[in-house]
Amino acid sequence: MSFSPVIIIGAGAAGLMCAAQAAARGRQVLLLDHANKAGKKILMSGGGRCNFTNLYVEPGNFLSHNAHFCKSALARYTQWDFIGLVAKHGVPYHEKKLGQLFCDNKSSDILELLLSECRDGGVDLRLETNVTQIDKTDAGYHLTTSAGSFDCESLVIASGGLSIPTLGASGFGYQVARQFGHTLLPTRAGLVPFTITEPQLKALCTELSGTSVEDCVVSCNGQSFKENILFTHRGLSGPAILQISSYWQPGDAISINLLPHLDLPEWLATQQRERPNSELKTLLAELFTKKMAGLLAEQWFASRPLRQYTPAELNEVAAQLADWTLVPAGTEGYRTAEVTLGGVDTREVSSKTMESQKSPGLYFIGEVLDVSGHLGGFNFQWAWASAHAAAQYV
Ligand code: FDA
Repeated sequence: MSFSPVIIIGAGAAGLMCAAQAAARGRQVLLLDHANKAGKKILMSGGGRCNFTNLYVEPGNFLSHNAHFCKSALARYTQWDFIGLVAKHGVPYHEKKLGQLFCDNKSSDILELLLSECRDGGVDLRLETNVTQIDKTDAGYHLTTSAGSFDCESLVIASGGLSIPTLGASGFGYQVARQFGHTLLPTRAGLVPFTITEPQLKALCTELSGTSVEDCVVSCNGQSFKENILFTHRGLSGPAILQISSYWQPGDAISINLLPHLDLPEWLATQQRERPNSELKTLLAELFTKKMAGLLAEQWFASRPLRQYTPAELNEVAAQLADWTLVPAGTEGYRTAEVTLGGVDTREVSSKTMESQKSPGLYFIGEVLDVSGHLGGFNFQWAWASAHAAAQYV
C-alpha cells in the first residue's frame, strides 16, 4: 500500500489540468486512468484541432440546474489564463469563428502541453488502472485498484460523463457520487445529432446527406442558435443542430429558419413581380444547392412558374422556409454526443473549491458535474476552470 496526498481519477482534460496545477503548488499527485492513453477526447476534439477555449466565455454559455455555480471558477481561471498557458508552450492557434480558438496544427499540441506540465510537477500518471473500491478513512480515502492499494487525503473525481464510451467514458463518477450520498440529476446526451424517422423527412435527409446550409436559425424551448445545419443519412447535424439538441427534450418540435438573412415575403413578392415566368425551383437554386432547391420545390411547394402562386401561397412558401417545424425522433445518443447533460448535483458541491459537501476531501471536476457548455470551446474551458479551482485546495 502506498500513500499520495492527492489522487485524481481520470486523466482527461480536467484531471490532467488539476494534476498539473496541484503539482505546481508542490502537492504530490497520483493520476489514475483506466484507458491506455491519457486525454483521448482532447485528441478527438475539434475535428483533430481541439477547440480549446472561446474568447467570449460567459456563464450564459453553460447549462446547469444551478446556473450560478459555474461563475466563480470561470471568473478565477478565465480563457485568458488558458491562452497564456498555450502561448507559454508556443502552441500556434487561431480563431475560427465566433471566438472559437483552435490549434493551427493538431489537438495533440494541447495534450502534450498538459502532459508536459504534469511531468514538470512530477505527477505520477498510471494508465490502464481500474479502481475497484473506494473507502473513507479517518485521514481521507483508501482506494483498491488493479495496480494495488493507495491512500490519499484528497480524492478528485475527474472521470467525465457518458459520451463516447469507445473513448473511455464510463458512469464511474456517478457511482462514486452516489456512494458518498450525492444527488444525481438525470443524464442525457447533449451536443448531439438528431435522428429522423418520419418516412418523407427521412428520405429528404438521406437524399441531401452531406449538404450543409449556412447560418440557419434553429430554435427550441426559447433558445435559438444561428449556425450551419447539415443533413445526414440519419437526420440532422451541424453546429446549430448540436447546440439546440442540449435544449431539446423527446417529443419537442424544433423550428429551422433556413433563410434568416432574407425578408422572405417581400423578397418573394419582388421576384414574382420582376420575373413571373421563373420557376420557384430556379429561384430556390440561387439560395440552396440545385439538388436541395429541386427537392424542396417539389416536395413542399409543387414548383411552378412564380406567376401561378397567389399571394397567400407565396406567404406559405415564405413561412415554410422561415419556420420549418419538425419533431426529431431522437438523438444519436452517447455514441456520438460531445457532452453529457446532468450529472452530479452542484448544489452539494462547493463552487469555490469543488469539494463535496457530503464527504470532506472528495472533489468533483469537469463533465461529471451538472455543468455543460455550448459548442465552441466552452466545455474545455469548464474543464480547465473547475480543475484549477479544485487544484488550489486539494
Ligand atoms: P474527459 O472525458 O475528458 O476525461 C475523463 C477521463 O476519465 C478519461 O480519460 C477516461 O478514460 C477516464 N475514466 C472514465 N472512467 C474511468 C474509470 N472508471 N476509471 C479510471 N478512469 C476513468 N469540448 C470543447 O470545449 N471543444 C471541443 O473542440 C470539443 N470537441 C469534442 C469532440 C468530441 C468527439 C467529444 C466527445 C467531446 C468534445 N468536447 C469538446 C467536449 C470535451 O471533450 C469534454 O467536455 C471534456 O473532455 C470533459 O473533460 P473531463 O476531463 O471532465 O472528461
